[in-house]
Amino acid sequence: MAKPKVFVTRVIRDKGLELVKDFVEADIWLEELPPSRETLMEHVHGVDGLLCLLTDRIDAEVMDAAGPGLKVISNHAVGFDNIDVVAATARGIPVGNTPGILTDATADMAFALLMAAGRRVVEAENFLRAGKWKTWGPSMLLGQDFAEATLGIIGFGRIGQAVAKRATGFDMRVLYYDPSASHSDFDLPAVSTDMETLLRESDFISVHVPLTPETHHLVNAEFLSRLKPNAVLVNTSRGGVLDQDALYKTLKEHRIFAAALDVTDPEPLPLDSPLLELDNCIIVPHIASASVQSRDMMAFLSAKNLIAGVSGERLPNCVNPEVYSQSV
Ligand code: DGY
Repeated sequence: MAKPKVFVTRVIRDKGLELVKDFVEADIWLEELPPSRETLMEHVHGVDGLLCLLTDRIDAEVMDAAGPGLKVISNHAVGFDNIDVVAATARGIPVGNTPGILTDATADMAFALLMAAGRRVVEAENFLRAGKWKTWGPSMLLGQDFAEATLGIIGFGRIGQAVAKRATGFDMRVLYYDPSASHSDFDLPAVSTDMETLLRESDFISVHVPLTPETHHLVNAEFLSRLKPNAVLVNTSRGGVLDQDALYKTLKEHRIFAAALDVTDPEPLPLDSPLLELDNCIIVPHIASASVQSRDMMAFLSAKNLIAGVSGERLPNCVNPEVYSQSV
């Protein structure tokens, strides 16, 4: 029997690739950069399954270019704002993602960025490399204290909670804002609060919400104006959650202490972005989940979702399970 046909939009880690190659006939995009829109439309034609990355915009047009045989869209990410899930559901196509396995890696990076921005690690290294280190100085490159400081976490899902867990090891007080979370769900010394209180009382703020129309530019000029002057802000969620112009103005005028971003809008961030002129802003290229184990597991889980989908089985991790109970 012929194997199902799939398009894989980039080379993923071996742990997933081997599985894909064993079970399906895979057209794998081998270039470093994602396929162009035109190429994507061509390569999806007639496939049974699509394994895509967060860099691929998968909308109704792509689904229709694939045709009625498309049985699964498997995203190699936990976030799925690159996929029009409503359009997929309307076509009865299950969409898979990779939750859970990148929680620790992402929380580690959020904490690393909180510390790097709070303690000016990148700025200090640049200072040294620029030959500015003349002597040890009592007031040289002073940063913020973590012990007893308040960390405000916006979005208290898996990753937000994992950040809270790390903060307790640093003797921080943890506040969180998440209208959909119920405190009985977790066993952490973290206090649920309203957004207003969180912004007013936090010394460190870490953002962990998905990008939706409601969270687009959640971090805007008004949000930033409520922060303490010593505040350190970290975003490892999605670039669109934060208004970069407002952040630039706030940092430039030193109205908060520092910020660190793992995600930007757009990605990659153009090199002429004014944010890159600032010493009090750290930006890394969307690497929060970039640990060996996380990326291996993301590849494995996205391959498992793909294979389940083309085999007509329920996806191990499906973001639109309603496809299984509806008639299309
Ligand atoms: C995800 O999986 O959504 C992450 O952003 C990838 O690092």
